Amino acid sequence: MENKRYERTNRLAEAPEMTAREADEAFAVCVETVKRNMAYFGSTVPAAASVDGIYPKTANDDWTDGFWTGEMWLSYEETGDSAFKREALASVADFERRMKERVVVDHHDMGFLFSPSCVAAWRLLKREGAMEEEQHESVMNDAAIEQAKRTALAAADNLMGRFQEKGGFFQAWGTAGDPKEYRLIIDCLLNMPLLFWASEVTGNPIYREKAECHIRTAMAHVVRDDYSTYHTYYFDPETGAPVKGITQQGNRNGSIWARGQAWGIYGSALSYGYFHDPEYMRLFDGVTACFMENLPSDLIPYWDFDFNDGSPEPRDSSAAAIAACGLLEMARYVEQEKAGLLISMASKLMKALTDRCLLRDGAPGAGILLHGTYAKRSKENGVNQSGVDEFNLWGDYFYMEALMRMRKDWERYW
Ligand code: GLY
Repeated sequence: MENKRYERTNRLAEAPEMTAREADEAFAVCVETVKRNMAYFGSTVPAAASVDGIYPKTANDDWTDGFWTGEMWLSYEETGDSAFKREALASVADFERRMKERVVVDHHDMGFLFSPSCVAAWRLLKREGAMEEEQHESVMNDAAIEQAKRTALAAADNLMGRFQEKGGFFQAWGTAGDPKEYRLIIDCLLNMPLLFWASEVTGNPIYREKAECHIRTAMAHVVRDDYSTYHTYYFDPETGAPVKGITQQGNRNGSIWARGQAWGIYGSALSYGYFHDPEYMRLFDGVTACFMENLPSDLIPYWDFDFNDGSPEPRDSSAAAIAACGLLEMARYVEQEKAGLLISMASKLMKALTDRCLLRDGAPGAGILLHGTYAKRSKENGVNQSGVDEFNLWGDYFYMEALMRMRKDWERYW
């Protein structure tokens, strides 16, 4: 364990942890919000980010829609209320339609879409069925399990079509093979568990092998020597040689985009969980320490670590929620002393998020976690600005997931 690196993360030293009661209360607030919004959104889906504090109603056609289903599954796990299950299953059916009709699926975000929706359904309903069998009840919903499985497998196959042998990675955006888009992005680490799952259910190792190849390529190039990270990395389409790292949503090519760093934390923890490769542990320790060292004193990350205490720039609360999930995931695999440290760091982040960003008793259409930033335009990134200091769906989802992880031994959707 890189104790020395963590010792330098003194931003967290004096911060209070979250109590079990606070975590229970916060989760209850989330469940109320999901319930209110299920009524508000009906068969529509919240947009990726809110506008003036309210999510617009949209169709299932963005990379973020699986998070909304995931929020419903988490609420169902907590309450056992069949209303959540009914809506989540309707959403799984809509994901099957989306996959069949190929609605905005020509990109790499199959894991973000299909893990918290369809893989979650598959895992939860199978577990429910096993328990019911023990109780000699026969209400297992085989049809729903099959639908979730074939939809998630179709998504995994779709993602496999984006693997680039030259370079050894999954191409993020654009037409597969397009030389102008021949790059990976750090976020894609979260798409890899869909492929681990696909190997598990089919018995075919190819999904897992390509995922592991991608992870190795990504880690070798997006993680800089000081464990800060690039958002995206280009390769030569002719030779597969690494070309350059640049940002898409960060402030500068050489800066640290807070959410990208958080994807690195959670992505390396999940990778370690599947492969138990010490190299992934080393990277996790490094990217985690770098994230912690760059937090402002109130622990709510600025959207890019070019900014810190005193800056008027907006925050990205979602980055802290993602990081907390990664810390809690890695805590499952390490010895007691290190697990205690990781859980304590996660708890401090969650306490800060709860005190500063959790919206209680919001209006219909409002989200859970205030102060997220989807994309902020800068001189270098040229990105379309949206969702600045707003709710975003992944912030809401990962905040709930982290609370769930703090409160029970949770079987991951990833
Ligand atoms: N995966 C896209 C984002 O984090 O904005």
